Amino acid sequence: MRIAVVREALATDPLPLETRVAATPDSIKRLIALGFEVSVESGAGEAANFPDSQYVDAGATIAADARENYAAADVLLKVRPLRERPDLGADEVDLLRDGATVLGFFYPGRNTELLERARAKKLTVLAMECVPRISRAQKMDALSSQANIAGYRAVLEAANRYGSFFTGQMTAAGKVPPAKVLVIGAGVAGLAALGAAKGLGAIIRSFDTRAAVREQIESMGGEFLEVTFKEDGDGGGGYAKEMSPAFLEAEYALFRKQAKEVDIVITTALIPNKPAPKLWFKDMVELMKPGSVIVDMAAESGGNCDVTVANEVVVHNGVIVLGFTDLAGRLPTTASNLYGQNLVHLLTDMGGAKGWKVDFDDEVVRGATVTHEGEITWPPPVKPAAAPAPAAPKPAAAPAPVVAAPVAPPAPTKSKGHGHGGGGPKVHLGSARSAPLTWLSIVALALSYFLLQNAAPDATGLHLFAQQLTIFALSCFVGWQVVWNVAPALHTPLMSVTNAISGIIVVGGMLHLSGDLSRPAALLALAAVLFATINIGGGFMVTRRMLKMFHR
Ligand code: NAI
Repeated sequence: MRIAVVREALATDPLPLETRVAATPDSIKRLIALGFEVSVESGAGEAANFPDSQYVDAGATIAADARENYAAADVLLKVRPLRERPDLGADEVDLLRDGATVLGFFYPGRNTELLERARAKKLTVLAMECVPRISRAQKMDALSSQANIAGYRAVLEAANRYGSFFTGQMTAAGKVPPAKVLVIGAGVAGLAALGAAKGLGAIIRSFDTRAAVREQIESMGGEFLEVTFKEDGDGGGGYAKEMSPAFLEAEYALFRKQAKEVDIVITTALIPNKPAPKLWFKDMVELMKPGSVIVDMAAESGGNCDVTVANEVVVHNGVIVLGFTDLAGRLPTTASNLYGQNLVHLLTDMGGAKGWKVDFDDEVVRGATVTHEGEITWPPPVKPAAAPAPAAPKPAAAPAPVVAAPVAPPAPTKSKGHGHGGGGPKVHLGSARSAPLTWLSIVALALSYFLLQNAAPDATGLHLFAQQLTIFALSCFVGWQVVWNVAPALHTPLMSVTNAISGIIVVGGMLHLSGDLSRPAALLALAAVLFATINIGGGFMVTRRMLKMFHR
C-alpha cells in the first residue's frame, strides 16, 4: 500500500502559511515498518525543517511528479483539509483516485461542500479532529497534541509583546513585580499555557466552568478563580456545556475585577459544536493596563474576546490583542512530529498495510470516519447508553443531516475523559454490564445464608464452606464493580491496588499448596498463584512502560 505525503502550503498562500507536515522522517520509519511504501512530495517538510534528504534516509521516495503522487496514493496523509492546488491546476480531491483514503483534519461541519465531493469520489476520509477522546485513543488525539503546543506558544507570543519580565526581580535599580497571567478555560491548551507561564515565573490564575479542573490548576501552583454562583459546567468527556445567563453574568463580573489586575490574558474557552463563547468584552479590554496582552486562542472560531481579529494583532486602548490561528504551526518541527505520531498510531489501529481494514466496529475508526464507500458517515451514530447512566453526555448532534457546526468537531462519542479532569470513580450498582455478576453474587449469598440456617450446629465443614462462599460472592461483587466502574483515567492507580490484592492471593494460594497436590483445593490454589503472578508481572510491565514515558 502506498502512502503519499504532500506539501501543505504554497508560497502563494494567504497568511498564515501552514508550516506543519503530516509525516516526518521518524514517523516514516514507523510507517515503513507497518508495511507501507511512502512517497513524499519534494519540499513537503521544508517549513518544518525536514529536508528531502532526511525523508530519503528514512526510506521514503521523493515523488518525481506531484500530480502522480496524489494519483498513485492509496492513503494520503494531510494536516489541513483537502484544498485547491493552483500550482497543479486542480483541487486535491480531484487529484486523488476514486476510493482512496485520506487522514487529516477535515472539519466536516464547516466543509459541507468538500464532504459531499469526498463522498462522490468514494473517498474514505478520517477526520483527525473527530477521533473520540477515550483512553485508548489518547495516542491518536491530534486535537490535544496540537492544543498542548499551541497553549505553550501562546505564552511565548504574549511574552514577546509584553514590555516586562514574567518573573519578578529585585535589582539594584529597583523592584520589578512578576507578571500576572489569567488563563480562561483550563482544557488542554489552557493547562499548557498555565505550565509555560509558571515556568517563566509569572503568577498564574485560571477560571473554568468545570469544577473538576480545580485540582489540576492548583497542582501547577495556580489559583482557581471562583464565582459565588453554583453551577457545574461539565458537559462530559472533559468538555464544557453552555452555562446559564445568571452564571455568565457572575463570570463577567469576576473578569471585570480581574481585568484591572492582570497583565496577560489567554483565552481558550470552547464548547463543542458551538461558536466560541464571548467572554472578554470591549469594556474589559479598556479596564486593562496599557501594554497588557491578550492572546485569544479561540480566534479561529470567532474569538472569546470582542476586539479579536483572526490572524491579526490589534491594539485597543494600548492593550495588544493577538488573534493567531497558527500557534501550533509556530513550533513546526515538534507539531509535525507529534501529529505524525498520531497518524502512525491511527494507521496501526487500522491494521497497517498488511491487515488494513476500515473497521466500523472500532470506536476510534468509526468516530473519525466522515465518508466511506460513497456514504457520508458523519456524525457517527450515538452509542445507546448501557445503563441509566446519570453522567452520560447528551448527543451533540442528530445523526442524519450534515449541518454546519461552526468550528468544533462533532463529539457524540467523546464520552469519557482522559487527562482532562473529567470523570472520577462512578459506581452504578445497576449497570447492565454488571447485572449478571450482581445476580450471581446475590444467589451465592442466598445459598450460603440458606446453608447456615439449615446446617446442623456441629456441621463445621458446611459452616466453613458457607463462610467462604460469602467471602467469595462479596469479593466477586466488589471486584467487578470496582473494575468496571472506575474511570479509565484511574486504571493505573487501580492496577496498583489489584497488584496488592494479587500479592495476598499468592500468599493464600501458597498456604494451600502443601500435601497432596492432586486435591481440587490444591489445584485451585495452584491456578490462583499462577493467575495472580501473571497479574503482578503484567502490572510491573505496564508500570515500567509508564515510567519510561517520564524519562528524559
Ligand atoms: P478544551 O475543550 O480541552 O478546553 C476548553 C476549555 O474551555 C474547557 O476546559 C472548558 O470547560 C472551558 N470553558 C468553556 N466555556 C467556558 C467559560 N464560559 N468560561 C471558562 N471556561 C470555559 O479545548 P482545547 O483543546 O484546550 O482548545 C482550546 C482552544 O484553543 C479551542 O478554541 C481551540 O480551537 C483553540 N486552539 C487554537 C489554536 C491556535 O492556533 N489559535 C491551536 C489549537 C487549539
